[in-house]
Amino acid sequence: MASIDRSDPIILGHVLAEHRELFCQMTAIRSALCGTAAPTRDDVERLVACVSGLREHLRGHFAQEEKGGFLEEAIARMPRLGRAATAIMKQHPALLAELDALILRLREMLAPGDISATAWQQAARDYECFAAHMQAHERSENAVVQEGYNEDLDL
Ligand SMILES: [Fe+2]
Ligand SMILES: [Fe+2]
Repeated sequence: MASIDRSDPIILGHVLAEHRELFCQMTAIRSALCGTAAPTRDDVERLVACVSGLREHLRGHFAQEEKGGFLEEAIARMPRLGRAATAIMKQHPALLAELDALILRLREMLAPGDISATAWQQAARDYECFAAHMQAHERSENAVVQEGYNEDLDL
């Protein structure tokens, strides 16, 4: 069993805290989308701001994961996790692209004219699709981190 260094619980805690924060932002966006069937221009503008905020947060989160840190730790402990971790990292661009497409769709709704309830419903479906992908992604990461640490700690 490898030695346990002081940074382990900090890294693990940081990852889990980051994932919780993302979950809160995602829940807020889901509530906004479910909150009305007859969106106003203000609703769409607020949503664009929230989704853009989530996109920025995610970009930073992904960059942090990619430049090393928590998954690296898990891989160092258990090299066979390397392939899984690489596959997980490769999902990042597609997840950001899904959000970019959603932001574009929402911005298009702000073109002069009535706000389309149908477009809003489509945005809600697109968002649910993104959220499912994102949750599966984070679950995989949590599992890799957990597996790496469990083996090391003989849990
Ligand atoms: Fe990730
Ligand atoms: Fe993550």
